Amino acid sequence: MIMAAFGSRRSACALVVLVFGLCVVVGGARVDDGLEVTWGDDRGSVSPDGQVLSLSLDRTSSSGFRSRNTYLFARVDVQIKLVANNSAGTVTTCYVIKPAAHAGVVLSAIVGTFFWLGLVELTVDFLFLFLQLISEGEWDVHDEVDLEFLGNVTGEPYTLHTNVFANGTGGKEQQFHLWFDPTADFHTYSIVWTSRHILVLVDGTPIREIKNNADKGVAYPASQQMRLYGTLWNADDWATQGGRVKTDWSQAPFVAQYRNFTALDTTSAATPAVAGGGTGYVQEIDATAQQAMKWARDNYMVYDYCADTKRFPLAFPLECAMP
Ligand SMILES: *[C@@H]1O[C@H](CO)[C@@H](O)[C@H](O)[C@H]1NC(C)=O
Ligand SMILES: *[C@@H]1O[C@H](CO)[C@@H](O)[C@H](O)[C@H]1NC(C)=O
Repeated sequence: MIMAAFGSRRSACALVVLVFGLCVVVGGARVDDGLEVTWGDDRGSVSPDGQVLSLSLDRTSSSGFRSRNTYLFARVDVQIKLVANNSAGTVTTCYVIKPAAHAGVVLSAIVGTFFWLGLVELTVDFLFLFLQLISEGEWDVHDEVDLEFLGNVTGEPYTLHTNVFANGTGGKEQQFHLWFDPTADFHTYSIVWTSRHILVLVDGTPIREIKNNADKGVAYPASQQMRLYGTLWNADDWATQGGRVKTDWSQAPFVAQYRNFTALDTTSAATPAVAGGGTGYVQEIDATAQQAMKWARDNYMVYDYCADTKRFPLAFPLECAMP
């Protein structure tokens, strides 16, 4: 199982996982062992030493990559250095998704989000992305865990937009500012997805936990493989300051960089070596991590759908009241 997930090159790493519940990045691994550039012509590229995958965006096209493997429960870590200076209008993403069988379902789910964000027209970029998704073939329902870094003008903060779709239902947006300049250096962004919960971590600090409350009637993605995607695209209709600030194309090409991608199989959560493995947070997060998450949310969360009374004037979604 684990071996299959990581392939022979990663078998040493998988052994480490079995013994210690941790995977130390093995020096020399190439980022394109795990990721492949899938669109944007030559706008997506891997450095000759294999260490850095760059995506670029210009007026003509966006670019993107996907993971070579799909996963049903995984911890995905990737380091990203975001577009520097005036990144207004650009969106850099990292998300795992299982798109829907019916194009219309994905379309309506995504368009729903876009409408919430105030987008009226679909961009060519979006259609590109959409075509990529449906090209994956037959899918049952739309599951997704979404991290989108919304650019800003020089000196103003990026917004990390997060959302989760399960069984085609999304609308669970939370947004954060970051406690560092994400363009000055690489930082680690992680999605920990297990049968028990989904955790989003920034440099190891949990910022969001979505628990599996399927037994209480809240849809949770737990039955289908998902694939990691990364994209850099233009969304100046809605991304920055509500769409008021547009992309300054004189700054193009915009470039975002990704490195040190790792994916750990977390189906093995039941094995004693992994369960309760501190930094892995495979089953539950400990008191220290709870405290760190509270700090991040108290100080850096700038939007929470569970607190949006304009959007939910009568009652918040069920899960908002669940611990
Ligand atoms: C950002 O601005 C600084 C200072 O003007 C400049 O040195 C740097 O090259 C710029 N970076 C990018 C990616 O344009
Ligand atoms: C951009 O900066 C403004 C002003 O600081 C801030 O309100 C906003 O959340 C930032 N992010 C985006 C994506 O607009």
